[in-house]
Amino acid sequence: MDVIIAREINQIAQTIADEIEQLLRDKPTAVLGLATGSSPLAVYDELARRYEAGRISFANARAFMLDEYVGLPADHPERYFNVIMRDFVSKVDFAADAVRGPDGLTDDPQAAAIEYDKAIAAAGGIDLQILGVGSNGHIAFNEPGSAKDSRTRMLGLTAQTRRDNSRFFDNVVDAVPTHCVSQGLGTILEARRIYLIALGKAKAAAIHQLVEGQVSVDWPVTLLHEHSKVSVLLDDEAASLL
Ligand code: GLP
Repeated sequence: MDVIIAREINQIAQTIADEIEQLLRDKPTAVLGLATGSSPLAVYDELARRYEAGRISFANARAFMLDEYVGLPADHPERYFNVIMRDFVSKVDFAADAVRGPDGLTDDPQAAAIEYDKAIAAAGGIDLQILGVGSNGHIAFNEPGSAKDSRTRMLGLTAQTRRDNSRFFDNVVDAVPTHCVSQGLGTILEARRIYLIALGKAKAAAIHQLVEGQVSVDWPVTLLHEHSKVSVLLDDEAASLL
């Protein structure tokens, strides 16, 4: 696992965008794994800039999202599918339907979750996954205690995650959904290349566990040690407990 403490966020964005640009040059049909949240925004902005400059095209690529809330209306601005469309997908040239997320709208999210895992496998698996991390060490929405071989499934959100994410819901914790559908840790670990981005003091404890702690389901992010091609990109604050 490489750990890089970046001088500035732009360095993180350039590093990951360089790798995606190279991947798409070698394999225009590449499958990307997209995270929502604030951590990858600079990467998405840099990719949009390179698309505008004619350096990169997503026209033949596909992407799968990590997770989705259950029960938000289709047009809710915080539904992760709408977030990724707004933050990234609408700014580049993915084909219609080339980007999928877990289905949080269906009456049977669990059945849809199983189908989602199959769709990732049918696409040939994920070539490059971008990940953020929660303050409690969750990746996607795999909360502490999630099994390391877990697959995409519906699960409940912890009180801490609902508090953390209430910043996107006018700081009203009760407005944050109680459940989500998330790729499992087993699903995520099948990606061929993983970049984890952590920014800010709130991530310092999780990063400390990842870099200096034991592998444990109590801090799901530590399971990344079981993957052979992970790069961890940090700002000074996320690295402050190292
Ligand atoms: C959410 C998402 C995760 C994301 C994490 C960190 O709970 N489910 O996929 O990685 O929060 O988000 P941020 O990057 O905004 O700190």
